[in-house]
Amino acid sequence: MRTPIIAGNWKMNNTINEGLKLIEEIKGFPRNGEAETVICVPFTLLSEAKKAIENTDIKLGAQDMYWEEKGAFTGEISPLMLKELGVEYCIIGHSERRQYFGETDENVNKKIKAALSHSIRPIVCVGETLEERESHIEKEIVERQLLLAFEGVDKKKVENIVIAYEPIWAIGTGKTASADDANDMISFIRQTIGNKCGDVKDKIRIQYGGSVKPENIKELMGKSDIDGALVGGASLDAEDFVDLINY
Ligand code: PGA
Repeated sequence: MRTPIIAGNWKMNNTINEGLKLIEEIKGFPRNGEAETVICVPFTLLSEAKKAIENTDIKLGAQDMYWEEKGAFTGEISPLMLKELGVEYCIIGHSERRQYFGETDENVNKKIKAALSHSIRPIVCVGETLEERESHIEKEIVERQLLLAFEGVDKKKVENIVIAYEPIWAIGTGKTASADDANDMISFIRQTIGNKCGDVKDKIRIQYGGSVKPENIKELMGKSDIDGALVGGASLDAEDFVDLINY
């Protein structure tokens, strides 16, 4: 059995005070404890957020990291630095980083390996654009992203990876992939991992992301291969986020 995982991606939102208020609000709602819960907060909030979630079942995530441990890489944050702050998860290869900050599949691969070697669980994002879907090449695109991301990754560590299938056209747009389409792609992703890495495909957790909200979570989570959600907008509202956790 795969433990469901609901992760909030706060993106570039919330100052320290705002973030701490949101965490207190989240803590104020009863959670059923069935899904693993992660909040991926901005770097500036990691330290305070860690203290605020102490003695809860909420885990701490970052939104990106560099692959080197230290050195002349102005502006970057290393896996060692994240580990020191108690970070357990790190989003890697989010489409916004690929689109606006030149993240490549090669970098994604290096970051995954660095995260795993520091016992940080990567949440690896893959997904196609609207144009690619309309040209019916979405599976080719996602397969390519996956194969490059997993290149040379130690098979024994693959089960620590979480994959988030996020069709780019569904992110922040209010448009969700239908639960059937999401499940179809996610089972394809599982199969692709099986072809490359073997039976670990049944252990690895694969989330759906893209306009997930309380109104559509149940249907998504009811599907055979969907193990959770990576949530942007709705994770910024405590009540909505807890509704998602308690789906
Ligand atoms: P969204 O973002 O839920 O606001 O669509 C999801 C994501 O970018 O991870």
